[in-house]
Amino acid sequence: MTKQTSGTIKFYSGEQLPVELHKVRIVQKLFLKPIDERYAAIEKGGYNTFLLNTKDIFLDMLTDSGTNAMSDNQVASMLQADDAYAGSQSFYRMEAAAREVFGKQYVLPVHQGRAAENIISQVFIKKGQVIPMNYHFTTTKEHMELNGGKVLEIYTDEALKIKSDEPFKGNIDIDKLKAVFAEHGSDGVAFVRMEASTNLIGGQPFSMQNLRDVRAVCDENKSMLVLDASLIGENAYMIKQREEEYRNADVKDILNEMCSYAELVYFSSRKVSSTRGGAIVVNDEELYLKMRDLLVLFEGFLTYGGMSVREIEAMAVGLLETCDDTVISQSPSFVKYTVDSLDAAGIPVVTPAGALGCHIDAKGFLPHIPQRDYPAGALASALYIISGCRGMERGTISSVRNENGDDILADVELLRLAFPRRVFTLSQTMFVIDRVKWLYENRELVGGLEWVDEPPLLRFFLGKLKPKGDWPQKLIAKFKADFGDSL
Ligand code: F0G
Repeated sequence: MTKQTSGTIKFYSGEQLPVELHKVRIVQKLFLKPIDERYAAIEKGGYNTFLLNTKDIFLDMLTDSGTNAMSDNQVASMLQADDAYAGSQSFYRMEAAAREVFGKQYVLPVHQGRAAENIISQVFIKKGQVIPMNYHFTTTKEHMELNGGKVLEIYTDEALKIKSDEPFKGNIDIDKLKAVFAEHGSDGVAFVRMEASTNLIGGQPFSMQNLRDVRAVCDENKSMLVLDASLIGENAYMIKQREEEYRNADVKDILNEMCSYAELVYFSSRKVSSTRGGAIVVNDEELYLKMRDLLVLFEGFLTYGGMSVREIEAMAVGLLETCDDTVISQSPSFVKYTVDSLDAAGIPVVTPAGALGCHIDAKGFLPHIPQRDYPAGALASALYIISGCRGMERGTISSVRNENGDDILADVELLRLAFPRRVFTLSQTMFVIDRVKWLYENRELVGGLEWVDEPPLLRFFLGKLKPKGDWPQKLIAKFKADFGDSL
């Protein structure tokens, strides 16, 4: 095979730029509406970017979940989908691809990542057990707690530092992991969980060495290791970039090795294979049998698991494409370009650049807004108003309240600007960077938020808030003064 370039390309000027290694053949019209219309839209959406209609959005950087661009081969594969309740050939093609990429025999399809978390939590967590992990994901934690488990985050000291040179902020602290087993004993630990490209702390990867060390502790304590592989392609790419031993390795070999250390691997296909759906994969028949019946109960028959067969076909192709450097390097390269540009302008962003998106530190960006007034939520609303770009709050609004009803203030207060794979061009990326810079110059105009309607569970999805004071009007007035009629 011809060696293909991935990541950035050196220009004659000396600059390294992320060049799109694909061509655009299907396009979707976007709407960049006037600022007054954007203001009306965010008012209607309760200052919650989840509640916006995409007709009011210019660049949708909410998430990469289900929004990565599919390849021509993925779309083509959907035409040969085999509609069958049981025994669909589409499933067997996907099963073969999953076996190849993850190196596990048994493939249990589910309708999306959290469905896997539901089954895993129901089967493997006993009330009162703890689950040590590098960091939680929102849906993961809820499922584990619903089943009586307690999440223990045992990240390293570098993990939550916004500005850092540590290449593997997603590592587990091995001493802390040993201490968890010493305190709770093997029976008190349901399993250990590692999340690839640790989402909530800025898409930060773990190293292969750390995974091996975690495996060794699991072996000593006869504990199961569960790997959340939703963003495993990007973690593998960053292992290749940042861990000397893997500099010349094949991504597929890296993926295989990562999965070989875990008894159970699960993923959201909305991310990893640029489709919709998900799966749990294991080698041990006993583990498979424990989950099989719940799968049929909650998801559907074993050969579709709540997914459409068309998605299953695209998933088969997408999983194999995850082994292609030019595919999995695309999002991290654009994230890096954005992070480095904002960092160079003195804007507080999570460094080093990770997977999934650029993460802006809202506490550093808006130091005048107390955390209980939700600076990351305010920043998401402000950026939407002044640019039409939709990011996602990953801070205290995405957290929960304690038993006294007080907010549990998030460790990090981030605005995530996601880069779904192969969706945005470099000029669109430059537009976002420009508007973030303008907002930073005018940051003192942004104020906090307060709840209007706060749901008890996963409140960040459906909750409605309002601004404290009239700061949106002031921000809009300044925008108009600087940009005139320009959008
Ligand atoms: N695990 C991780 C690491 C995730 O990032 C996600 C979803 C899930 C599990 C759940 O998968 O959405 O298919 O049910 N992350 C999305 C995001 C929602 O926007 O980061 P799901």
